[in-house]
Amino acid sequence: MKALCWHGKGDIRCDEVPDPKIEDGRDVIIKMTACAICGSDIHLMDGYIPFMKKGDILGHEFMGEVVEVGRDNKKLKVGDRVVVPFTICCGECQQCLRGNWSVCERTNRNADNATKAFGYPTAGLFGYSHLTGAYAGGQAEYVRVPYADVSPIVIPNGMSDEQALFLGDIFPTGWMAAANCEIEPTDIVAIWGCGPVGQFCIKSALMQGAARVIAIDNVPERLALARSAGAEIINFDEIDGTVPDHIKEMTGGHGADKCIDAVGAESHATASFDAIIDKVKAATLLGTDRPHVLRTAIMACRPGGIVSVPGVYGGFLDKIPFGAAMNKGLTIRTGQTHVNRYALDLLRRIEEGEIDPTFIITHRAKLNDGPALYETFRDKKDNCIKVVLTA
Ligand SMILES: NC(=O)c1ccc[n+]([C@@H]2O[C@H](COP(=O)([O-])OP(=O)(O)OC[C@H]3O[C@@H](n4cnc5c(N)ncnc54)[C@H](O)[C@@H]3O)[C@@H](O)[C@H]2O)c1
Ligand SMILES: [Zn+2]
Ligand SMILES: [Zn+2]
Repeated sequence: MKALCWHGKGDIRCDEVPDPKIEDGRDVIIKMTACAICGSDIHLMDGYIPFMKKGDILGHEFMGEVVEVGRDNKKLKVGDRVVVPFTICCGECQQCLRGNWSVCERTNRNADNATKAFGYPTAGLFGYSHLTGAYAGGQAEYVRVPYADVSPIVIPNGMSDEQALFLGDIFPTGWMAAANCEIEPTDIVAIWGCGPVGQFCIKSALMQGAARVIAIDNVPERLALARSAGAEIINFDEIDGTVPDHIKEMTGGHGADKCIDAVGAESHATASFDAIIDKVKAATLLGTDRPHVLRTAIMACRPGGIVSVPGVYGGFLDKIPFGAAMNKGLTIRTGQTHVNRYALDLLRRIEEGEIDPTFIITHRAKLNDGPALYETFRDKKDNCIKVVLTA
């Protein structure tokens, strides 16, 4: 079968690889009908997440039709259409029982690596390195789904693939980022990053009742989409002074009650001192993450506020103004998304027409075109916001 594989930094290829097989009674095999490229995939492409190996199959946003079912799987049957959450969950451990799906205690087959990096293992993830279980990803014609009697979401007939696909990652990710802000009706929510995750943060914050949303980026078409969703916008390349100062000005000195970092490890900034240090450190292999946005969000948040971080970071972060966080009494919440906590509620909202997640798709293509579209998406060429691939 065809699959998009990682071959090194900046080197993604569409390879011919063996078809997956059932390995455990709870597995299913799906025939992929739609998959997407995520900002998290770009961190892998750019070498920000260690533990990738040549030939690893990428992709954690995917859906398809069940074509084979393991003998112990009583949940799914051949022909079911499912969206597969990016987090692999056993459904039985203490964390799964608490609904902390992305930190399932059992599904990471490289628990030792994760324990060394993080102190404890986190869940297995599809297509996301040998730190999170080394599971083959979903940017492939066929995918083995382990523990498939737990997290796959069965999609009702009548809902299109494109409407359902983002239930496996970025829609619940935006939703959880907003839910972590405990939004109150008077809240002003500032959101850094107007990529796919940022866009779902904006929609979710407004759906959860925020009074105002201020969205920050420097990519014109992404800012335009944010504005059409109801956000006020800041193009950080076009303002005098800093983003926190600008937010203060826009809010009559009040500041942002809640701040969301939907950028993560690869934030860019033009002239700030900290961003230059991050770049030098990344270039000389002295550091990896570039947490400019996290620093800014902490500084911009008003005392007693909440900073919510869906943006992915990989390692040790330098020069985080923790004194500001501590003295202002901020709450910081973060995490890989607990997809199954939100998926059925969000599925219902799509069915009832409260939101149509297809608003974000700008590029549709075939798996073969995947390597070129990874570059288009990373470099934000051709007005690209979200790529959906079919087999
Ligand atoms: N927590 C989770 O479970 C989860 C799930 C999916 C994605 N993510 C993460 O969310 C982040 C965003 O993903 P995406 O798909 O939207 O990626 P993306 O790369 O398309 O979007 C990031 C956006 O941030 C903007 N940006 C960069 N520097 C900025 C700055 N200084 N200020 C404001 N904006 C800035 C970029 O221009 C871009 O539009 C990534 O880190 C991704 O790994 C997390
Ligand atoms: Zn993702
Ligand atoms: Zn579990």
